Amino acid sequence: MRSIVTGVGAYLPETVVSNDYLAKIVETSDEWIKERTGIHQRRRAAEGQFTSDLAVEAAREALKAAGRTPADVDLIIVATTTPDLTFPATAAIVQRKLGVPVCPAFDVQAVCSGFVYALSVADGFTARGHAKCALVIGAETLTRILDYTDRGTCVLFGDGAGAVVVEALEGQGTTADRGLLSFALRSDGNKQDLLYVDGGPSSTGTVGHIRMVGNQVFRHAVVNIAEAVEAACEKAGVAVADIDWFVPHQANHRILMGVAHRLGLDEAKVISTVALHANTSAASIPLALAVGIADGRVKPGQLVLLEAMGGGFTWGACLLRL
Ligand code: UT7
Repeated sequence: MRSIVTGVGAYLPETVVSNDYLAKIVETSDEWIKERTGIHQRRRAAEGQFTSDLAVEAAREALKAAGRTPADVDLIIVATTTPDLTFPATAAIVQRKLGVPVCPAFDVQAVCSGFVYALSVADGFTARGHAKCALVIGAETLTRILDYTDRGTCVLFGDGAGAVVVEALEGQGTTADRGLLSFALRSDGNKQDLLYVDGGPSSTGTVGHIRMVGNQVFRHAVVNIAEAVEAACEKAGVAVADIDWFVPHQANHRILMGVAHRLGLDEAKVISTVALHANTSAASIPLALAVGIADGRVKPGQLVLLEAMGGGFTWGACLLRL
């Protein structure tokens, strides 16, 4: 059995936050942000609009694209680091808001790598026959955990959601099959101090703010991601050069291109949405995939490589044929 991506959807909240707006709050400039990160703007969720609300909008679009309804869904996984509440899981809230019948629904927390991790978990359900129609969602309201006195982080992140429908379909067991072909997932808990949130229910009893030693994360990102991409390709028996589209986590345009260069990939094969979305953590990959599909670049049957790195450190890659 193969786990096929049959529908992709995305949602961005309406409010656009420009670099110039942030330059009024912290000592920064539109020029610095664009040059060092490639970010031109980010979206911010409205007051009272929660991660689950963004997730529901993206999920509705993905279900529509797949020709499915909430009644068909038998698994919901939400990758998020900004849940509505400490519990219940945002996935259960999404289930209620969408009107999905009783089924497994839970969150995956692997920060910016969350969507790749969540896909691999969904693959475990669908490929083994435990689910027929899974919703895998990456959704974040990261602007809620930013410290707007820290220019090193508050300019980098935004809100949004992306979703895919994953369905089980029989394949031939070759790389010509549609579906999730291979994964390479990694974590190294020793790097916690370089990227973390300084609060939580069990430690401070508060939500906390994002803390990051940006330039050190940057150095690790390029090396770690490239290794995971090569490992995922090797597992599937596919050459990196055969990848049609590279859909990375959107942290920094320089990281995206650094990884592409390290892998010898043509820059034109990289879907970059960092200019308009900024870093939306677990939401960034499905958001970018949705953009690539909507503008006609990414087509059914093509080989797509997803990769991410985030707090933990966690990182990973997934090779799929759409
Ligand atoms: O999604 C999770 C993974 N996260 C990432 O992958 C993010 C990885 N890191 C990055 O994207 C980059 O490291 C940053 C964009 C965060 C920073 O860019 P950088 O080129 O690595 O700059 P830096 O941290 O080495 O800082 C260079 C200078 C410093 O000033 P001094 O010490 O040289 O005087 C910073 O204080 O830039 C300063 N700086 C800023 N200046 C204007 C840092 N943030 C800003 C800012 N505006 N917003």
